[in-house]
Formats: sequence, structure tokens, C-alpha cells
Amino acid sequence: MASSAAEEVIMSNRRVIMSNRRVILKGHVTGVLTEDDMELVTAAVGIAVPAGSTAVLVKILYLSVDPYMRIRMRNHLEPNYIPDFVPGEVMATLGVSKVVASGHPDFKTGDHVWGMMGCEEYTLVSHPESLFKINHPEFPLSYYIGVLGMTGLSAYAGFFDVAKPKKGDYVFVSAASGAIGQLVGQLAKIKGCYVVGSAGSDEKVNLLKTKFGFDDAFNYKKEQDLNATLKRCFPQGIDIYFENVGGAMLDTVLLNMRIRGQIVACGMISQYNLERPEGIRNLFSIVTKRIRMEGFIVLDYFGTYRKFEEEMAGYIKEGKIACVEDVAEGIENVPAELIGLFSGSNVGKKLVIIAQE
Ligand SMILES: NC(=O)c1ccc[n+]([C@@H]2O[C@H](COP(=O)([O-])OP(=O)(O)OC[C@H]3O[C@@H](n4cnc5c(N)ncnc54)[C@H](OP(=O)(O)O)[C@@H]3O)[C@@H](O)[C@H]2O)c1
Repeated sequence: MASSAAEEVIMSNRRVIMSNRRVILKGHVTGVLTEDDMELVTAAVGIAVPAGSTAVLVKILYLSVDPYMRIRMRNHLEPNYIPDFVPGEVMATLGVSKVVASGHPDFKTGDHVWGMMGCEEYTLVSHPESLFKINHPEFPLSYYIGVLGMTGLSAYAGFFDVAKPKKGDYVFVSAASGAIGQLVGQLAKIKGCYVVGSAGSDEKVNLLKTKFGFDDAFNYKKEQDLNATLKRCFPQGIDIYFENVGGAMLDTVLLNMRIRGQIVACGMISQYNLERPEGIRNLFSIVTKRIRMEGFIVLDYFGTYRKFEEEMAGYIKEGKIACVEDVAEGIENVPAELIGLFSGSNVGKKLVIIAQE
């Protein structure tokens, strides 16, 4: 099991972290992300809650690796929805942590929280209002990296609020075995939709059909003619496409949408490692089929988190939602695990154990 290499001492009744391993971005990245773009460093620091501040110091137990981290490694010339990572500084990601010192009245030592933290062993959170306290100790803490955290909320908000599905809708999900895709497919079944998923291996396709209850699934890497495959899976066309990958998949889906169908643009992972995004040729289908295509950013839904959490917790307890996690261990493995998302090495929600309690 992972053990923390950070050194902590008590000085003047305050907990001080003397050394802290962290993953930094070496420089902005263009093209394919490699391990050379990131570095694990041991920072000799004296991290503590400053006297009189409302910051909290957390010990990180689990970190999430997510595709959007690659987007933050670019040097955006236009303002982006989230700040770029700064070369030479610790990267940020979502994590599950334990509070080890607190200057904030709403957080006490021993509380478990999830939210944005550094890619490191300990983080000083200067605005703890952004953290969510973990309300359901009956679930594994790791669920707050996935099904009960940001990815679960993305699936829920994107499917229910953006797509507004109806019973009987024909739903297609790409990257369907991944963190968000597996949940969208199961939410679609709860709603009474017909759902098909695409994934990048036979093992993943099997998981979609046997564990997550998809009506059908295919391995897009094996299909010679994606258009023919979608026509076979959806002879009457697609009502809702939950878009996770972009590129050729989006282009082909456009030809297979029903009139007044909807495309929920959650992400386009196939484009994140490209220096220049690919073009889409079939956009005129949006006109002829009166398609509504709408993007969303999960950050806009954080204010609705507690409502989502209760509903999703209920589904899990009722056995209506299952989740598959892909667990790695050790902060030194964060770079490789992040890179693995772009070749599909993960089966389910990728997370990294950083420390035991
Ligand atoms: N809008 C938002 O607020 C929001 C929030 C979170 C995530 N997202 C987006 O949601 C999508 C899914 O994220 P996730 O966290 O659930 O990741 P994930 O699906 O767990 O992992 C990424 C998966 O994408 C697939 N993939 C990688 N490169 C690909 C390529 N070139 N072509 C096709 N598929 C490829 C791989 O699966 P296969 O083996 O099946 O290829 C890989 O396992 C991403 O696009 C992400 O950026 C959006």
C-alpha cells in the first residue's frame, strides 16, 4: 500500500509539513503528452496553516487523473474556462483528502473532503469553501473521485440537464466504458432509453453489455466502416449522442442523427494531443436534421452538487448504478496514468492512491 514520503513535524502546537512530493509541469505542451513533460519533485517546504488564516491543510488520500488536465497544459492565447497550469509549479487535480489542520470553523481535523487540490501529498487549501465535505461514510472514499464526485456530476448534469432525455430515446455514448461514459449509459437505462456504447477494446465492450446494462456496444477500433456500424446499431437514427471523443466519431454520428436529435458535447479527447484539431465535414447535418448541439462545463453545476449526491447515492444503494474503478498507487505514477488515458489504458475511472489515512 502507498505510504507517504512527506515529513511532518509539530512546531509550536502547529502541524508543519517539511517535505512534500509533488508533480510539476515542466513546460507548456504542444502535441503528444509524454512523461518528460512532467516531473516528480520533493519540495523542502514548511507548509502549515498560517496563524489567523481560514486555510485548511489536507493530507491527500486519492488523486484523480482526468483528460482536462491535458487541456490545462497548453499555453492558451485566448482566455480558457479554467486557468492553464504554470510551468515549474505543481499541477492541480481533484482529490479526496483528510483535514490535518484547520483554521476554518466549518472544517475540523479528521474531516474527509473532496475538491481541487495540488498533485502532491499535502495541500494547503486557502479557500476551503470550494471543498465538499464527504457526507456518506458508508461508501468507499474513492467514490468521491468518480461516481459521487466530479465525473458523476458531469454524467448526471450532461445527460439530464443538457440532453433532457425521454423514455424510449435512442442514446449513443462514446468512450462508454470510461468514468463518465459508464455512468451516462446506466442513467440512460434508468430513464428507459435504448443505449449503445463504443469503446476501444473487446474487454471494455463486454463490460458495457454485462456490467453496465448497455443494450449494445462495439469496439470502434475494429470496425472498418463506422457509418455502417452506427446504421446497424441505430436503424432509426440517434436521438441523443453523448460526445466524449470528437474527431471521426463526431463526423460519422452527424450522419446518423435523427431529426431534432441532440448532441451533448461533454469532451473531445481525440483532439487534446493534436497540435491542430481535425476538421468536421458533416456539420451541415445540423441544419438539415435540425440538430441541437450543446456543450457544458461541470463547474457550472457545482452549486447543484448536494442534490446530485443524494440521488446518485440512492441509485448506488438500490443497485441501479455500478462503477468500475481503475486504481493505481503512488504519486510517482500520476504522469504515466494521465498519459494512459489517451491510449485507453484505463478500464473505468482512473484514480491514484497517494496515502493511507
Ligand atoms: N464537460 C465537462 O465538464 C467534462 C468534465 C469531465 C470530463 N469531460 C470530458 O469527458 C470525456 C471523458 O472523460 P472521462 O474522465 O470519463 O475519461 P475516461 O473515459 O475514463 O478515459 C478516457 C477514455 O477516452 C478514450 N480515448 C482516448 N483517446 C481516444 C481517441 N483518440 N479516440 C477515441 N477515444 C479515445 C479511451 O477509451 P477507449 O479505450 O474506449 O478508446 C480512454 O479510456 C473527456 O473528453 C473529458 O474531457 C468533460
